[in-house]
Amino acid sequence: MPSSSHTMPDRGPQHVAIIMDGNGRWAQARGRPRLFGHHAGARRVRDVVEACPRLGIKYLTVFAFSTENWKRTQVEVAGLMSLFRRYIIKETRTLRDSGVRVRFIGDRVKLDAKLIELMDTLEAETEGNDLVHLTIALNYGGRDEVARATKRLAQDVADGRLHPDDVDEETLPKYLDTHVLPDPDLVIRTSGEARISNFLLWQSAYSEYEFIDTLWPDFTAAELERLCLSYGSRDRRFGAVPA
Ligand code: FPP
Repeated sequence: MPSSSHTMPDRGPQHVAIIMDGNGRWAQARGRPRLFGHHAGARRVRDVVEACPRLGIKYLTVFAFSTENWKRTQVEVAGLMSLFRRYIIKETRTLRDSGVRVRFIGDRVKLDAKLIELMDTLEAETEGNDLVHLTIALNYGGRDEVARATKRLAQDVADGRLHPDDVDEETLPKYLDTHVLPDPDLVIRTSGEARISNFLLWQSAYSEYEFIDTLWPDFTAAELERLCLSYGSRDRRFGAVPA
């Protein structure tokens, strides 16, 4: 066991969010179809979730499918949707029995009824858990989330439940999909791209970022541990001057 004897310092990230990029290139490098890479990527999600308690990570949020990903070929989109269904069916019991609470964020409207049903069931089956909170962003886009939140907020104003003067930085996030989650402390993007691609735009205002070259299917718990340790040694000031 490489590093299981280590425990994270108290200053490790409580909430880690990951843009899991590079599945397609990983597969292409092996002469395989892109979906082969997505399947390998799904296995890494399992490893990373398993590593969270030891690393002191209470919240893990992963970007599984963006509002822009519908532009991929029909074969890839259908393959990803089928992978999500299979992942949920296969992992529900393990996630439930290992103390993981699962939530989905994103707009469900465009997803198929069977997938929505599986998502609802997984959320319900795990709602009593509190060891690790796994949030899966599926048909998620940060701008779309803010737009949907604003729509609900505007409705509350129109219905007299909210006064415009009461809309501030504390109020708006209550309407976001992530309203029950703390903001991410650390956002990781794999595969060498230094972009945030519409992920957790509001929530990551003060997050630390790590852009690493590893392709997602090659990402390991050991690498996550290294990033958490490096996070713990940084000084986050949230715009303030050190005391
Ligand atoms: C980006 O790689 C990855 C995705 C769009 C899909 C992410 C999905 C998974 C990791 C699998 C399943 C996840 C769960 C939670 C079950 P890319 O295809 O853009 O890679 P490329 O940049 O090399 O083409």
